[in-house]
Parts: sequence; structure tokens; C-alpha cells
Amino acid sequence: MAVIAVTKESRAGETRVAATPESVKKLAGAGFSVVIEAGAGVAAAYPDADYAAAGAEVVKTAKDALAKADILFKVRAPSDAEIATLKPGTIVAASLNPYQDKAALEALAAKGATAFAMEFIPRITRAQVMDVLSSQANLAGYRAVIEAAEAYGRALPMMMTAAGTVAAAKVFIMGVGVAGLQAIATARRLGAVVTATDVRPATKEQVESLGAKFIAVEDEEFKNAQTAGGYAKEMSAEYQAKQAELITGHIGKQDIVITTALIPGRPAPRLVSAAQVASMKPGSVIVDLAVEQGGNVEGVKLGETAVTANGVKILGAPNLPGRIATDASALYARNLFAFAGLLLDKEGQLAPDYEDEILKAALVAQGGAIVHPALKA
Ligand code: NAI
Repeated sequence: MAVIAVTKESRAGETRVAATPESVKKLAGAGFSVVIEAGAGVAAAYPDADYAAAGAEVVKTAKDALAKADILFKVRAPSDAEIATLKPGTIVAASLNPYQDKAALEALAAKGATAFAMEFIPRITRAQVMDVLSSQANLAGYRAVIEAAEAYGRALPMMMTAAGTVAAAKVFIMGVGVAGLQAIATARRLGAVVTATDVRPATKEQVESLGAKFIAVEDEEFKNAQTAGGYAKEMSAEYQAKQAELITGHIGKQDIVITTALIPGRPAPRLVSAAQVASMKPGSVIVDLAVEQGGNVEGVKLGETAVTANGVKILGAPNLPGRIATDASALYARNLFAFAGLLLDKEGQLAPDYEDEILKAALVAQGGAIVHPALKA
């Protein structure tokens, strides 16, 4: 029987876990046995006893778990110490952040691991259930609005009281992929007046269907800004200048700005300049979800709330899914459960079909080498 190990996350501040009691039960039903490091789920409110009741074997250390493992499930890349104890050929599935975290990738390859980067799961219908970028971005989009609401010294909904009316907050969402769409929906539920922008034309209808107003430079380049994979292209300097001009007029009137814009494999596009931040009112709040990829907002600081001279707060909190760790882990664990199904043959034996287009797209290291075409030096 194939053994899956799940260990504690080692990265500072990572509260999520790659399996939950629910996913353990399902994995056991599918023919896996699961070994969990004690305490792995505690930060996400999943106690050891619940894993044990679901059928997992709870062991004391990561080393104990890895000694038995054919497969290692993680949220982030395993630590150096974990990689050092992997048996060659161990299958590792995690959000490996492969463009930025080259060191972990090289260490996994050197150790002979068969590593899958969950970020590279292709966006095809069959793989939707394994799409960790979507599941985590969705929660990040929600959480960004909650963080903004907390930092904002006013209310989001319009309120009529005996002492007078409180105006609704104006919220502007920049980048409306999975996170941005959930941010729009959340801000609308809280009663804000919402506008949004993106460079992909398909987003216009999505924004409007959520009851928000769409604002963008809709030129020829905009019409072709979506790649076949559904992602945005890096826009030209001319487009960015036009976009900046349009945004400048708008942003000074906003109370909350949430930026989510990413381009796979590239630094995050700069969408908000220091001058635009300076045009906002004191007490306004910006949440930059792209901070770990360099940020969309000039002046954002990773892990900090920067307060500008004119009293605008720029929140640079990393890992927003980690601030909603119980749900984020539950969705991530379901993504991995679906992925695990690809690793077994019809008889339930561990025999991944490396010709399967999903496995092929996500495989980054195997047989001692980095094998993904986008990552080879
Ligand atoms: P992402 O996280 O890569 O980027 C976030 C958003 O930023 C995107 O909407 C992108 O267009 C936007 N952006 C990039 N550069 C920008 C700029 N200069 N100005 C303004 N906005 C900018 O995107 P995410 O959330 O991963 O979604 C990408 C696409 O994949 C969407 O079309 C989404 O609907 C689609 N998708 C498809 C799935 C499937 O079919 N299985 C599953 C999930 C998403």
C-alpha cells in the first residue's frame, strides 16, 4: 500500500497543513495509508486525535514519517532537513514556488525526488479539482477584504442612523482573477461600492455580473492580453502608461484598493505608483496581495503595514490563505486528494502515468534532474 507522509510546515508563519482528517479518510478509502507528524495540523485547528480517528498513523517526528513514505504531501517546499532524509524516488507534491525558490527545487532534484509543483497543474476542466492556485486565491481574495475592513477606520456599508448617514466605502479591485473576483463578491456583500480593473477582456463581464463597475483601457492590446492558458501577458510600456493615466483619476477617490495582479514566472506588474498612493485620502487602505512576487504597489513592505506621509496604510501581509488556515487547509487537502488519484493504477498500485497531461505539466524534478522545460537552466 502506498504511504503518504504529511509533516509540519517549516516556513515561518505557515499555518496550513497538507492533509485534514477528512482528506485522510478519503485517502485511506482510495487505498493509501497516511502517516502524520504529531502536531502537523495544530495551527490549522486539526488535532492529532482527529487524524488518528480518521485512520492516520501519528508519529513523533518528520523523520519518522518520511522513513516510511513513498509520497510526501506539503503546503510549501519541504525543509532542507526533510529533503536530506527523503528516500530517492519519493514523490513530493507541494506548492514549490518553482520560479522563485530555485534552492529547494535543486535540492529535491539532487536527492532524486520525483517532485510535482502544484502551481503547474494545468487549467483544464479535469484538473480544476486539483487547482491549488484557485482554491487558495479564492480565500486570499476574501481575506484581503477582511484585512482591509479591519484596518479601515470607517464602515464599508452605508448606514442610516439617528445621528446621520455613514457613507458606503468605495473599493477598487485591481486584477480580477480568482482572488479579485472573490474580493469583489466579498466587498459587495459588506455593502461597499465596488469598481475593478484587469487587462484580460473576459473579466469585464465577470466584474459586471458581480455588480461591480469595470474600468480599463480597452484597446487592441487589451483584446489580446489573455494567453491560451488563461493568464495575463506582460503589457507593453505604452499600455501601462495609458493604464496609469486612467487609474490616476480614479484611485484618489477610493477608500480601499486591493491589488492581486500576477503574471506567471514574472515579477508582479507595478500598478500603483507612490504619486497615486499620495493622491488618496488619509485613512485609506491598500492591500497588496502580490507582495510576495514583488508587489503591485510602490512602497509596499513585505510583512508590514506601511503608513505613508499622507496617512494611507499599505498592507503587505504575506500568505493571506494562512490567515484562514482551517478552510485553506481543507481546500488544499481536497486538491491533493484529487491529485493522489493520478498516482495509482487501476489495481491501486503506486504507478503514476507520466504521460498523463496533468502529471506531465506539474512534474518539475525526476531522476536527479530538473525536468520542467520552463525551469531548466
Ligand atoms: P493570476 O493570479 O495569474 O493574476 C491575477 C489577475 O491579475 C489576473 O486576472 C490577471 O489578468 C491580472 N493582471 C495581470 N497583469 C495585470 C495588469 N497589468 N493590470 C491589471 N490586471 C492584471 O490569475 P488567476 O487568478 O490565476 O486567474 C487566471 C485565469 O485563469 C482566469 O482567467 C481564471 O478565470 C482562469 N482560471 C481557470 C481555471 C480552470 O479553467 N480550471 C481555474 C482557475 C482560474
